[in-house]
Amino acid sequence: MKHIAIFASGNGSNAENIINFFAGKASATVSCVLTNNADAPVAGKARRAGVPCLAFDRKAFDDGTQICRFLDLHRADYVVLAGFLWLVPGYLTDRFEGRIVNIHPALLPKFGGRGMYGMHVHRAVIEAGEKRSGITVHEVSRRYDEGRIICSVECAVMPDDTPESLAERIHGLEHKWFPTIIENEIEKLAAAE
Ligand code: GRF
Repeated sequence: MKHIAIFASGNGSNAENIINFFAGKASATVSCVLTNNADAPVAGKARRAGVPCLAFDRKAFDDGTQICRFLDLHRADYVVLAGFLWLVPGYLTDRFEGRIVNIHPALLPKFGGRGMYGMHVHRAVIEAGEKRSGITVHEVSRRYDEGRIICSVECAVMPDDTPESLAERIHGLEHKWFPTIIENEIEKLAAAE
């Protein structure tokens, strides 16, 4: 049984969806949630699902001691970033090398990097006149959105799309595919052990 730690900064609909997906599965479980925003809805979603949640500030994130202790306590051996906005420091990318993934709401390598999050991404896709967008799940490295791409799933960008309508379509893709992609990756890791 693998223990997944989810980092999230905001609403946490993906975090909640992943928690529900793995509930009752033998392969993995979400053992904890970590957030840089104690007031973010994701914290309430985690608590309601009975998943321990740690809220940390910038100092604790940079230092790492409290976070590593929490990850140890909850036996985390796989990390999922689901709407987590801070750049991940080396103590996490090193510790979870090959076992830390992020979801990006566009087709990387385009429309990624610093400042490319949330509506900024969807606005940029529409302004560029793209006909396709989608989701990209990738490994997390020391640079925003640059780790190895694991999987991407496409959808159409409609001529009358607004950033909001595109965001909704992309969220649908995330909810449909992200948990399964995580499960596949975890099964591959387990098979290689
Ligand atoms: C998602 O669109 C994800 O791709 C991005 O942040 C958003 C988080 O949404 N990284 P939610 O908080 O899970 O609803």
